[in-house]
Amino acid sequence: MSHRRSSFQSNDLFPREIDIEVCLKTLKIYQKIEGDVNCVVWDASLVLAKYLETMCQNKPEFLSSIRVLELGSGLGVVGLTAATLGAQVTLTDLPEALPLLRLNINENKSKISSMGGYAIAESLVWGDSTSQILKEEFDIIVLADCVYYEEALDPLVQTLQCFTNTITKKPTMYLTQEMRDSEVQKRLWTKFFEKLNEIFNVEQIPEEEQHKNYRSPDILLFKITKK
Ligand SMILES: C[S@@+](CC[C@H](N)C(=O)[O-])C[C@H]1O[C@@H](n2cnc3c(N)ncnc32)[C@H](O)[C@@H]1O
Repeated sequence: MSHRRSSFQSNDLFPREIDIEVCLKTLKIYQKIEGDVNCVVWDASLVLAKYLETMCQNKPEFLSSIRVLELGSGLGVVGLTAATLGAQVTLTDLPEALPLLRLNINENKSKISSMGGYAIAESLVWGDSTSQILKEEFDIIVLADCVYYEEALDPLVQTLQCFTNTITKKPTMYLTQEMRDSEVQKRLWTKFFEKLNEIFNVEQIPEEEQHKNYRSPDILLFKITKK
């Protein structure tokens, strides 16, 4: 499969540049003018990417050479930021999201490798217990804005559980979620949050510990570990 920009209609795509100040690199992320939820950069991904950057500012080795998994990567802002900060990252999403995700990996490859990082994209449908990725172990799992429809709640929790029922590594998860002002979204979030709390230790990261320019009362950030 080709991941070159020419595989897409050039007038379908427009780039967004995201500065990673701590290492003076700028990611170029292609979005689609029209498309599904996986074709745009969501604010929750910027909050999480910038939180990772803040962590690296305080502790430069935070992501160096560690294995990171991103769920529901979309265009890959979080995973690509982690890779540019030195992590070995597997970005995942539905099969239909992979061509644009891989194009974005390709676009930023040289910046990532110059920082000692690595990024690859694979399909991972939440709840699919046959995925080969479930056999792998990760140090950190990241996910941004992935709680937005009912049918995905149980499969998403199940997938998080699979990645924490591991032998060697006990991953820490970082999750951001935008709280949208709709009754449906509030109900979904409450249900998801109850499930998370049953299984995991869930700690909300206060805004003052987040990036000073990329935080918002509407976007919650959590650190999650196995009980
Ligand atoms: C709102 S978007 C967020 C994308 C990205 N994390 C961001 O914040 O920019 C939700 C993402 O979850 C992915 N997704 C939805 N259902 C999924 C499923 N069942 N398995 C895997 N990925 C899924 C979508 O394709 C999409 O990329």
